[in-house]
Amino acid sequence: MSKGGIQGDYIKDVAQIRKIIKESENFVFFTGAGISRESGIPTFRDKDGLWKKYDPSKLASRTAFISNPKLVWDFFYSRQRLVCQAECNDAHSAIERFEKTIQERSCWVITQNIDRLHQRAGSQNVIELHGNIFGVLCIECGKREQYNHDNFFNNFSEEKIPICTSCNNILKPDVVLFEEQLPPDEWRQAVQLSSECDVMFIIGSSLNVSPANTLPYHALKNQAVLIEINPNVTEMTSIMDFSLRESAPNILSKIFDLV
Ligand code: APR
Repeated sequence: MSKGGIQGDYIKDVAQIRKIIKESENFVFFTGAGISRESGIPTFRDKDGLWKKYDPSKLASRTAFISNPKLVWDFFYSRQRLVCQAECNDAHSAIERFEKTIQERSCWVITQNIDRLHQRAGSQNVIELHGNIFGVLCIECGKREQYNHDNFFNNFSEEKIPICTSCNNILKPDVVLFEEQLPPDEWRQAVQLSSECDVMFIIGSSLNVSPANTLPYHALKNQAVLIEINPNVTEMTSIMDFSLRESAPNILSKIFDLV
């Protein structure tokens, strides 16, 4: 397998990948916004992505939240509405079925996404590096509450900023905003799983954002096979064993023979 992968000629790749899967024990699916794109959720850095239209420092940073919580909440309310209407796609389902079929072998999803579509597809082992859009957190007393796509808007209305029922301060979406640290326990577990895996699928991420984008290097240090699935070349395509220029829902069902 030459690094950099064989783009486009994926039939041969799929056969090789399926052979590797049979001989491997520990799997990590490292996912980004691209895996949810066909569920109708925009990515960030594609030409129609969120950060091509909006300035993340004004809508998704800690500074923005402190200075203008209503604007940040309006941005997140609109994304929550979108996620409420979204459905899991074949990529989320293919990973869930793979997790089910491999019995005693280990399979984890480490996602940068906050949409919970992996969990809605039924995946059990999911680590959310950037939190989730239906959680709320009080930045004063630290109280956390978890909702989901079908009850969030029964508890909060878009006219108001959510208020903590314990200390009456404003609540924040329980996601990692720019300028914030990743949750330490989730990060530690993600590094450990990446350092121990035999195969890492890197699906739908531009690999632009650290420290999440260092996880493939932890896998590489363990001589894991790196399989990138992305219609575009990324910053790290050159270190991949396979880089399939394909859309995730389409190619994952072929790899896992679920067609
Ligand atoms: N299948 C697979 N990949 C796809 C698909 C698809 N159908 N459609 C788009 N992609 C790819 C794009 O080519 C791009 O490389 O998904 C990637 C999305 O990249 P980004 O928009 O940068 O999203 P992501 O890598 O998840 O961003 C990481 O940045 O702003 C922060 O917190 C945000 O978690 C996010 C982080």
